[in-house]
Amino acid sequence: MQRVISTAVALALATPVFAQDDAISIGVAQSEKFGHYLTDAEGRPVYSFTADTRASPDQQAEISCSDEDCLEAWPLVATSGDPEAGEGSDAALLGSTNHGNQQIVTYNGWPLYHFASDAPGEEPQGYGLESFGGEWRLVAPSAQAMATDLPVGAKIYADACAQCHGPAGQGMASFPSVAGKNAHFIASRLGQYRAGETIGSNSALMMPVASALSDEDIANLAAFVSADFQ
Ligand code: HEC
Repeated sequence: MQRVISTAVALALATPVFAQDDAISIGVAQSEKFGHYLTDAEGRPVYSFTADTRASPDQQAEISCSDEDCLEAWPLVATSGDPEAGEGSDAALLGSTNHGNQQIVTYNGWPLYHFASDAPGEEPQGYGLESFGGEWRLVAPSAQAMATDLPVGAKIYADACAQCHGPAGQGMASFPSVAGKNAHFIASRLGQYRAGETIGSNSALMMPVASALSDEDIANLAAFVSADFQ
């Protein structure tokens, strides 16, 4: 079953500096497969591209998708006027970068793209594709989750955790809930079980599960569980 709830909300624009202002609004959608990810106001997913260079305090973002074929498949998200934060996205992470005569929206420093095959409100088709020299990623709303790969965390959770902690982290019988916990808590518990530490009376059940996890798995799981199971 595919379920996509778009919570993108276009905010009313402040008095425009230019009469033709058409500032983009960035919101958030959610699906079972991908968790929370950024979209435009119409619910079309936006992506970042690993071949780009992220903007930093002393450097502008560099856009590496520039030939016609790339831009046809992956149109840049252009705006006139500062981009607006819709519901669920973080205004502090939104920005823009000049590219030719266009102003391109950035999030946490990464230039944003659409995928030509995506339709508004439908499940993203472009996640994880590798083309034009890099990989295309969905963009997570929180800065903490940005450093990690939510869909990877979602997959590990579904494969290795859901049978005990429940599909939504709610817990069942003697398996505790993992919902409503922050990423730091989840990651440190997993680290403790992996190190063989006893926390509660059933830690022996968690130790073999945790011992199979890499640091990266733990980071991705912690980001996914804390972002999605409120
Ligand atoms: C075989 C069932 C089982 C599986 C599979 C399992 N867990 Fe657990 N989990 C438990 C039990 C039982 C506890 C309580 C352990 C204790 O008493 O210390 C627990 C505890 C936890 C806790 C600590 C909760 C708290 O409030 O202290 C976290 C976090 C957690 N599990 C995450 C995960 C993640 C992430 C996965 C998948 C990688 C996973 N678990 C897989 C059974 C399981």
